[in-house]
Order: sequence, then C-alpha cells, then structure tokens
Amino acid sequence: MERFVMKGGHPLSGDVVIGGAKNASLGVLAAAVMADEGCLIENMPDVRDTNVMLQAIEGIGGIVERIDAHTVRISGAAISKDNTIVDDEFIRKIRASYYLLGALLGKYKKAIVALPGGCDIGSRPIDQHIKGFTALGAKVSIGHGMITAEAERLVGAHIYMDVVSVGATINVMMAAALAEGRTIIENAAKEPHIVDVANFLNSMGANIKGAGTDVIRIKGVESFHGSNYAIIPDQIEAGTFMTLAAATRGDITVRNVIPKHLEAISAKLAEIGCTIHEYDDAVRVDARDRVLKNTQIKTLPYPGFPTDMQPQMAVVMALSEGTSIITESIFENRFRYVDELARMGAKIQVEGNTAIITGINGYTGADMVAPDLRAGAALVIAGLAADGYSAIENIELIQRGYEHFETKLQDLGAQISLVDNDKDEQKFKLKVV
Ligand code: UD1
Repeated sequence: MERFVMKGGHPLSGDVVIGGAKNASLGVLAAAVMADEGCLIENMPDVRDTNVMLQAIEGIGGIVERIDAHTVRISGAAISKDNTIVDDEFIRKIRASYYLLGALLGKYKKAIVALPGGCDIGSRPIDQHIKGFTALGAKVSIGHGMITAEAERLVGAHIYMDVVSVGATINVMMAAALAEGRTIIENAAKEPHIVDVANFLNSMGANIKGAGTDVIRIKGVESFHGSNYAIIPDQIEAGTFMTLAAATRGDITVRNVIPKHLEAISAKLAEIGCTIHEYDDAVRVDARDRVLKNTQIKTLPYPGFPTDMQPQMAVVMALSEGTSIITESIFENRFRYVDELARMGAKIQVEGNTAIITGINGYTGADMVAPDLRAGAALVIAGLAADGYSAIENIELIQRGYEHFETKLQDLGAQISLVDNDKDEQKFKLKVV
C-alpha cells in the first residue's frame, strides 16, 4: 500500500508554486456541462477529485479532451436529457458530485445524482441545496442512495439560506442562472471559489451579480455559450505550505497565489510570531529561529479562518509556547487527527467542538494513518517537523486535494518519499541517515 515516509526535524525553505483551486475547479467543471458549446478550462489541479469529476462528466455523455495535466476541454453538448444520471463508485466518494445536480437541473431540468460522500468530518446535510432547488420550482426526492431533482420549468425565486453553505450557494446559483426570471440568494457563502464559479458562469453568458457578498442576484438567461477560463489558485494548498514553514521554523514563499484570499492565515501566523511578506502574487512566511506563541482560532465561513486549514494550524499551535485553543464551528468531526498527533507527543485535549492545546518543544516521529484530506496533510507537516522517521498511510485521501505533494515538499528540502513496499521504505531510511 502506498504511504509517505519521511525524516523530519529540519527547517524547510524555498519557493513553491501553488496550483489551481480544487474546490473551485469542481464547481467550474460541473458548470461547464451547462454550455451549448465547448469550454476550455485552464489551471485545473490534476488531483483525484477533479479526475473523478471528469470521469463522471464522461459517464453522462460529456466529451472531455485532456489537453495537458492542467488544461481540459469539456463539451456537454452531447448530453441528452434522458441521460442525466450520475452514479459510479468514485463519484460517491466526492462531496462535490452534487454540483452536477445543480448544473444538470439548470440545463436539462432533470438530474439524478448519487448522494455525496467526501471526507468524513461530520454530518453533512444537504437541506439547503434542496430548499433552494425547491424554491426554483423543482421536485426533489431521495431514495436508493440517489437524489432526484426535476422540474417542468425553473423560475427565479427569493431564497434565504438558513446556514452559510458553500455547496448550496454554488449549486443554487448554477441552477438559477438558467432559470426564468430573477433569483436572489441571501445569506450566501462568500468563499473565493463562489466568486470563481460565478465568474465562469458569467463568462458563458450568465448574469450573476454580488458573488463574494451575502446577497447574490441572478437574472436567468436561456442558454450558455462556450468559454475559456482559468481557475483561481488554491487557498488551502497555499495555506498548507505556509503552516509548513511555521511548523518547521523554515522560510517558504508560496507563489501564484492571491494574497487577499490568504489573509486569515497570514494574520494568524503573524500573530504567533512569523514574519509575513506579501507580494502581488506571492506570500512569504519566515519562521526561522522563531519562538512561536500561543493563540486562539475559531473556524468560520470566509473571510474567517477556514475549517480546511484547522488541522494544519493545530500542528503549528501544538509547537507554540503556552496554551492555544481551537473552536471548530463548521464540522463537528474535525479533530480525528488528534490521536495521531498525540502519538508524536502533542498535548491536545478535545471537548466537544473545542481543542485545548498545550505547547510542546517538538514532535517525535511516528507511524500514522491519515483520517481525511486536510488532516492527512497536517500529519505530513507534523512528520516533517518531528525528530526522526514518520510514515503516513491512507495517502490516497491526501492525493484527493494535493498534486505532487511529495515532489513539492522535496523541492523545499524535505526528506520525504512515496513508497509502496517495505523494501523501498528501508531504502529511504538508509539513504537519509
Ligand atoms: C465546502 C468545501 C469544503 C469546506 C467547506 C467549508 C467543496 C467541494 N468543499 O464543503 O472543503 O470544508 O465548504 O468551507 O467546496 N450545511 C447544512 N445544510 C446544507 C449544507 C451545509 O446544514 O444543506 C452545513 C454543514 O453541515 C456545515 C456548514 O453548513 O456545518 C458548511 O457546509 P458547506 O459550506 O456546505 O460545506 P461544503 O460545501 O460541503
């Protein structure tokens, strides 16, 4: 079985180029099937989740032409109304499969999609998606592990989201973009990828205003034409490397980023004692020889501290002086990495949605199992900060969202390797002593 093996304890330094945003690309790829012509999508990350989405698009008759690892041409023109059933063993594993529901409902007024999976980080209801589709005039039902949404006509509506949901905002925005008349989504999520999907829809001819604020106003149009579009940089991949600099007391510059999207992370790292330099499209985190201090974080919808950065930040907080506190307010099951970190010497006590962290001087390497995508990345950071060898299993979860993770880490000076047998693990250990 594939695993990462590493020897930590060295500051990591250098530049790393950040890829396109996984979560934005999942929305954009799904939305591309709504156009009557082909769409060329650039800066797509070549990670498992995006590849599963592309397979699903092919599965319903879409044409996917891979130009290179990060560029794809998608044409949904050949999809027929009678073939809007999305189901395979892979699509069930990714949460964003439900974006095909909004996209196909918008275009064909009918979609049947397998109930979404995704990371096991807590209960993940879809009531707000259903509420939005229903308000637009769709009948939505769930049975045999599938969600069906269909409508004679979709008609714009005034929708107030009861909770701020990234997925529901994107899904309802997609369906409403091809509905008749005007839709207003209030209490919308404001994440950068909402803006990215809205910009892509507008580039195909949609009329969407206000994405990135609490209120999104959509004037439905009849059809979409093709578009060429480049996906925004990945805020969470960038943040992961920024916390890596802090945890290893290194000096890392993340390039090809939008610094504004990283402000919550930059501000926290500055507060605990890192020096942050912001450039037009890069952020440098200098933590060399720093003694980092304790802090508190509470995960919140954008522009608050992202829940997808909570485990990585916890790894840094556990290596900072004093007592730090994390309040996880988005997903209740997001502390599953704590037992793994404890095996490396971390002192973290979880009570409900709060983690109380007592800083230690350093981790000791251990064998660990990645519990989910972001927690898996956090354990890699911990392993690279730790004294001695670590190994991490279940890395297919990490590969869902990080492209060439080990190569990018090696380029920063990390001693890490992806191995799939004990012999190669031994070889790695002999090589890095
Ligand atoms: C997206 C991201 C995920 C990130 C999360 C929060 C993608 C593919 N995934 O997930 O990486 O961790 O945003 O930033 O973009 N909720 C409801 N009812 C609903 C929908 C959501 O109660 O119908 C609740 C959820 O339980 C959660 C909160 O709303 O507590 C936020 O969830 P949401 O923003 O929808 O997350 P996802 O879109 O699933």
